[in-house]
Amino acid sequence: MSDQAPPVLTPAVHTVGLTRTYGSMTALSDLNLTVNRGDLFGFIGSNGAGKTTSLRILATFLTPTSGTAKVLGCDVVTQSDEVRHLIGYMPDFFGVYKDMEVTEYLDFFAACYKIPSASRDKTVSDVLELVGLSEKKGALIGALSRGMQQRLGLARVLIHDPQLLLLDEPASGLDPRARIEMMAILQELQRLGKTIIISSHILSELQSLCNRVAIIEKGKLIYAGPVQGVRDQMSEGPVYWVTVAHGTQAQAIEVIKRCDGIKEVEMADGKIKVSLVSSETDPAAISGALVTSGLRLLGFREDEIGLEEVFMRVTRGDTQ
Ligand SMILES: Nc1ncnc2c1ncn2[C@@H]1O[C@H](COP(=O)(O)OP(=O)(O)OP(=O)(O)O)[C@@H](O)[C@H]1O
Ligand SMILES: [Mg+2]
Repeated sequence: MSDQAPPVLTPAVHTVGLTRTYGSMTALSDLNLTVNRGDLFGFIGSNGAGKTTSLRILATFLTPTSGTAKVLGCDVVTQSDEVRHLIGYMPDFFGVYKDMEVTEYLDFFAACYKIPSASRDKTVSDVLELVGLSEKKGALIGALSRGMQQRLGLARVLIHDPQLLLLDEPASGLDPRARIEMMAILQELQRLGKTIIISSHILSELQSLCNRVAIIEKGKLIYAGPVQGVRDQMSEGPVYWVTVAHGTQAQAIEVIKRCDGIKEVEMADGKIKVSLVSSETDPAAISGALVTSGLRLLGFREDEIGLEEVFMRVTRGDTQ
């Protein structure tokens, strides 16, 4: 066995101080972001947060005002040709040629990428298979459904077998079934070894899909890490819902207030809402105190704040 250390792979994306202004408006401010190879990475932010700006910079279509961005080790400004061969960029809005046939369209892009004509048919068949459009080879693009057109857009960016996919809201405007189909394709692409960055303004949409997410707001990165970490970072301390027998709530509130580590106790929706100072507080002490006081405890459960609520708290609904 060799005792040589494995080669250190450059990350799929690494940005340092990436900034972009439009006149006096800062669309992206000092973004430091690393996306590892093999990540299915969610890039989340409200309208105007700076998602498209970031993705366009990574795709070499927009130059940064300052800072640097590297894609698989190549600088997006000084090595833009190399970067373009490594990435597949699907913009938020893209025109399709409605009067073209599906295969004609993909063959055209394959030719643009200088894929030799002898292997083009196979390449086109392969990408159509990947996105589940093999049945639609001869169809006119204009006759495809919205979901199919999105998948065709994805096929187009896969034609040169890029390592990194930059997908700007690929599921927007799709119905739930088409969204699920799109997400399943992305998972398959990740399994095939692609690194994928997908933007969305819906955190919960990417919750089960992505292994890591970044949240940006007003051009600033406010979180990067695993989805679960969003909740941990933003929760201000656990909340418990306590139900006791009718007519004994006031007594129960008094008992809970005397426990250690309680931030707030209030009635809400017929139940007692108990906010703890931190997760250090032992909730069993509360239920124990209630039972010891002779109160009948009918329910005691931790509040699972929805991910979307966390997101709203994180971003405070701020948009520019
Ligand atoms: N060409 C431009 N000229 C001036 N301002 C721009 C331009 N492009 C984007 N902006 C501004 O930069 C900010 C970030 O825009 P960006 O399109 O990156 O946001 P986004 O997160 O993609 O939003 P959305 O969810 O609406 O697609 C916005 O305030 C936008 O108005
Ligand atoms: Mg956008």
